[in-house]
Amino acid sequence: MLDLRKAIHTYDITTTKQLGKTFGCRAFGKHELVSSDFDIVRQVLMKDFVCFANRTNFIAPNPKNEHNVMQNLLILKEEENWKRIRSLISPAFSITNVKKQIPIYNECSKEFLQLLDCYASQNEKILLHDVLSRLTLSIGAKCAFGIDINILSKDSSSPFLESAQSIFNRFDFDSPRLVIMAVFPGLIAWLENITHYQFLANSELEFFKKVVLEELERRSIESDSKQDYGDFFQVLFNALQSTSMDGTKSLSLIEMIAQSFIYLITSFGNISFTAHLVLFILSKEIEIQEKVRREIFDVIGDKDEVSYEDLIKLQYTNQVIQETMRMYPLTARVVRDCTRTTTIKGIEIEKGVMFSVPVYAIHMEEEYYPNPTVFDPNRFSPEEVAKRDPLTFLPFGYGPRNCIAYRYVEMVIRMAIVYSIRHFKFSSPSNTPVRDHP
Ligand code: HEM
Repeated sequence: MLDLRKAIHTYDITTTKQLGKTFGCRAFGKHELVSSDFDIVRQVLMKDFVCFANRTNFIAPNPKNEHNVMQNLLILKEEENWKRIRSLISPAFSITNVKKQIPIYNECSKEFLQLLDCYASQNEKILLHDVLSRLTLSIGAKCAFGIDINILSKDSSSPFLESAQSIFNRFDFDSPRLVIMAVFPGLIAWLENITHYQFLANSELEFFKKVVLEELERRSIESDSKQDYGDFFQVLFNALQSTSMDGTKSLSLIEMIAQSFIYLITSFGNISFTAHLVLFILSKEIEIQEKVRREIFDVIGDKDEVSYEDLIKLQYTNQVIQETMRMYPLTARVVRDCTRTTTIKGIEIEKGVMFSVPVYAIHMEEEYYPNPTVFDPNRFSPEEVAKRDPLTFLPFGYGPRNCIAYRYVEMVIRMAIVYSIRHFKFSSPSNTPVRDHP
């Protein structure tokens, strides 16, 4: 993964320096236009969205395999199907819903603290990434399904955790399977057709399918009581039971399974990865850590329950999270597929061209962030942010196809940082290896 990602990072930075903000190339057998010119980027991601509504799909949809979970993820859905599912599930990620979930974040974070305490009292080393992913998966399972998976005590496990760990390992860019799928999507579709072997189907996906089906059965039995569980599953369950104007189901069963799956997997992997990075950086930047701690005590003190309003007031803590996401965005690029030939700023972009926004290269651009490899949360003070174009910061993408869950993600990370920093001081041994930026 690192080599591949590092290559993209380095490629975008060096090629932008050589050729300018907009250049063409060939990637994965497609013509590609890469641009960090904000007039063009804004047009593609927002104003001309109708010509760029799809994400370039390296995992080619296989029409014979429409019951495959992976093919039904919102991330890969196209045009009308994307619009339908996005509008059905958006309410689950609204501010109102995130506010309702705050007691869950508190409850799981308290168990997380007890787990950290348990390690600390026995003077044992903590694998921070492991405990954080247990926290974010617990929050994800409770918010998605309303279930408690009990993985926040020492040496505890659950099929949820094992399956999530195993699936996430599969998505490592080191996996030859994923690299082949990215580079030769047509080949994979062809092989699936003739061999009936599903390249992304596996026992872990089957486990998540089973969880959804069991929960569906349980709620169907109880549906007479019209109980509203108020979780993500409820939103999907309601959509599954409703029909569109043309009489078809608003959401199919496989689409329901796919959206539940992505909720759990990204809660487990993406959120814990970023929270881990924040804490790791704070363990190196002791003064910044102290400043965060002071702010948390000033705003929240030792209150037992942290509220949504408390989290919103943590201005400096949020700046630290944003600076972490600037330096280490989860995705190096945001990608769209041109579905209608169009001309932007005098450049004709043909149907079928892949359009890429080099997020990492933008985040590392001296023009917007002087000394970009230096960690400086002050770059995200309200005054500094007001001076920059919003397109200079794209950890969650931009426009109608941005990350649907960004509010949920931001609040879960803030909560994890509050509980961790309020109770523990973080330091890392001087010999901890740190990888340089390219
Ligand atoms: C640190 C955590 C996360 C980061 C940094 C992140 C980032 C992103 C980015 C960069 C995109 C592409 C945006 C674009 O193309 O403009 C995206 C899309 C998406 N994310 Fe996230 N994400 C995170 C966590 C999550 C979580 C927890 C969920 C679900 C609960 C989620 C659900 C989605 C979905 C469904 C899409 C596709 C949206 C669409 O195509 O309409 N993400 N995310």
